[in-house]
Amino acid sequence: MDPQPGATPYSAPAGCPMHQQQTSLYGPEFAADPHRFYEAARTHGPAAPIELAPGVDATLIVQHEAALRVLQNPALFARDSRRWAALREGAVPMDSPVLPMMIYRPNCLFTDGAEHLRLRKAVTESLARLNSSRLSRDVERIADYLIDQFIERGTADLLNEYAKLLPLLLFNQLFGCPGDIGDRLTRSMSAIFDGEDVLRANAELTECLMELVSIKRRQPGDDITSWLIQHPAGLRDEELKDQLVMLMGAGVEPERNLIGNALLLMLAGEQPGAPDRRGSGMLVEDALDDVLWNNPPIANYATHYPVRDIELNGVVLKAETPVLISFAAANSDPGLTDARQTLSKGAHLAWGAGPHVCPAKSPATLIALTAIEKILNTVPDLSLAVPASGVAWRPGPFHRALIALPVRFTPTAARRASAGVQPPAQTSAQLPDPYRNASSAAPVTPRHAPEPAKKHKGWWSSFLDVFRV
Ligand code: HEM
Repeated sequence: MDPQPGATPYSAPAGCPMHQQQTSLYGPEFAADPHRFYEAARTHGPAAPIELAPGVDATLIVQHEAALRVLQNPALFARDSRRWAALREGAVPMDSPVLPMMIYRPNCLFTDGAEHLRLRKAVTESLARLNSSRLSRDVERIADYLIDQFIERGTADLLNEYAKLLPLLLFNQLFGCPGDIGDRLTRSMSAIFDGEDVLRANAELTECLMELVSIKRRQPGDDITSWLIQHPAGLRDEELKDQLVMLMGAGVEPERNLIGNALLLMLAGEQPGAPDRRGSGMLVEDALDDVLWNNPPIANYATHYPVRDIELNGVVLKAETPVLISFAAANSDPGLTDARQTLSKGAHLAWGAGPHVCPAKSPATLIALTAIEKILNTVPDLSLAVPASGVAWRPGPFHRALIALPVRFTPTAARRASAGVQPPAQTSAQLPDPYRNASSAAPVTPRHAPEPAKKHKGWWSSFLDVFRV
């Protein structure tokens, strides 16, 4: 992998869109049709120059084989972003929106070698203690509770009222959060994902997780926080907090997008003129598989820093510059045609690969599967309230994420949550207007407008009121 004399960083054909203004991965054009960008990127070879945000340059690996060479070669490609030369030299805007996803933190994602092994072992061995029957039961109860909040309306935004809240509440359960801490955790994570008052939200997140660690040290439970504390790695409080933040960050956002993207795929098949996906028996498993191949929730990430100039399939990757893997482009690499879907279902890179491969593939799949089956079985006549082509995608270089997923269905009586328990206060960070940003969406009037909440409770304590877990 030493650079060869003929190797060149980038040799794009003249007129290539990647050499005009379209190198950026952050605008609405990219969000609307990322695969057009990946095709253009392929004209450079295995890797292309990109701009992740204004003033943040990087290289994107778009070829499947090259992606594996980077992901599986930790001796040449480090994950510790303190190696990032441009950041060290002050050439990266400190208020850049991509920094929270790239800046060094002492957790699994940003560490290498022995330190990574130590942290990862604590995380994987704690996750391995999850019981899958209990996990599906927890998902079902949270799903029931969330569905109860909108089932009498006949309309909902399945992204913001279901796919987004379900993993957030589930992590409260998995971490063993008491009501108040869970409410603050949900509120602060929601605000961080939505980019709302991020500094304050981050301070609140840190504070409540430190509180949680201190409670669990005194009173351990059957939960991930306690298992991490008990792990022989002997993590300190700060380290515990950092792994918990990472688990929520790494788990909640992709889970939301896996559920949202798969629901869109299944519901789009119900629209006139579309190939019938659900009616003709598209299984939820197949929808999840399709999303992991074609719309992976983490589209471009796994930032590596070459430890020296390295030649990769004819392209030189400069030392200490960010090199990201496009999981989405690698999956659609034309060179991979034979291995796609039919021949090798698991050949996609949606879970990553190498030492940082997702340690939560099984529970993450179970969560999405259970959540999707639950909503389809509870609300059998769900249909999209907008044309599938009208749903809008959230801009940003890292994710493949819907903005909203408006649906209609026949309203029915709620079962448990509305029977005597107030729904939580609906702040903008928690429950955006279902039809906001759904471009070209015809306005939909809810058949029953939701009652304003009388008492301001958070989502987690309201859930606990219902289920007394
Ligand atoms: C639902 C869909 C999910 C997808 C598509 C997904 C995908 C991924 C990918 C691509 C990576 C590699 C990132 C990299 O190399 O930088 C990763 C890492 C990771 N994921 Fe997941 N993930 C999902 C859910 C979860 C959940 C639910 C959890 C936690 C319970 C989780 C925990 C982690 C952790 C801890 C890492 C870092 C591992 C390391 O750096 O050693 N993921 N995930």
